Amino acid sequence: MKSDLEAYLRVARYRVDRALDAWLPGKGDAPGSIHEAMRYCVFAGGKMLRPVLCLAASDACGGARELAVPAACAVELMHTYSLVHDDLPCMDDDDLRRGRATCHKVYGEGMAVLCGDALLTEAFAVLAKAEGTERYGVGEMVAELALTGGSRRLIGGQVLDLEGEGKRLSLEELVKIHEAKTAALLACSVRLGGMSANATREELEALTVFGNSLGLAFQVIDDILDVTQTTEKLGKTAGKDAAVEKATYPAVMGLEESRKEAVRLTGVALDALAIFGEKGTGLREIAEWMLVRDY
Ligand code: IPE
Ligand code: IPE
Ligand code: MG
Ligand code: MG
Ligand code: MG
Repeated sequence: MKSDLEAYLRVARYRVDRALDAWLPGKGDAPGSIHEAMRYCVFAGGKMLRPVLCLAASDACGGARELAVPAACAVELMHTYSLVHDDLPCMDDDDLRRGRATCHKVYGEGMAVLCGDALLTEAFAVLAKAEGTERYGVGEMVAELALTGGSRRLIGGQVLDLEGEGKRLSLEELVKIHEAKTAALLACSVRLGGMSANATREELEALTVFGNSLGLAFQVIDDILDVTQTTEKLGKTAGKDAAVEKATYPAVMGLEESRKEAVRLTGVALDALAIFGEKGTGLREIAEWMLVRDY
């Protein structure tokens, strides 16, 4: 990774990490058990891609980063909740996440369900604290996050993902799943960053194309890494998708074609950044790194 990108990511992650720490109830706040579980899941060394993309989108639109921090916290909280529930025995049944035991393994299933619920709820609470701008009110931003997390997008994608297990899906069906379960929240992350920066309609449209294409590429790569990487490297159990016959890109089009598709989708995302000029450098470098990542 380029050293300026490393520094860019470090600064952005630190900012969001501190804000989340200040926002979330402390372990000492009753009931301590749930607050401990929430903190265990949030501060676990995830890549924090969604909040970083949110801040980078604000940069691209010339915004003050501080104004995008509530949105950055909100998308990371929604993402972390989705992982806690995704790992439950009734869903993907995973023991390992972000290099450590999954929430339900440590705190039990009941607590993991509630922990996910609480993280999702906090996502809306923190976003509601955003200031809003001339073009975008806080209500619009909260509604955007709610629609993204709802049954038409993230949840809907998870439903189709579960229903797709053991079936041979067409590429068209697979694209729908991946767009909904993953790309929608990545697109929402950059859109909320842009809205926090009072983006013009053209800028917001460019961020939408960027986020949707990058988000789809991101899930294609997640599918590829599940086949090609080790559990140690990923911090989550490798080879799970094939074991439960998940609908994935490698399963539908093979590894080589999947790689080509990830490159193509990233290219579409990068092209959409043209209107931002130099200010889009952060988004561009993150997108380039996401394509070559190995975890
Ligand atoms: C994993 O997301 C779940 C998917 C949507 C593919 P990340 O790979 O961003 O997970 P963390 O946040 O770094 O753990
Ligand atoms: C996760 O997809 C998507 C969401 C959590 C919404 P995966 O099930 O492929 O994610 P991993 O591989 O467990 O991280
Ligand atoms: Mg899943
Ligand atoms: Mg999973
Ligand atoms: Mg996966």
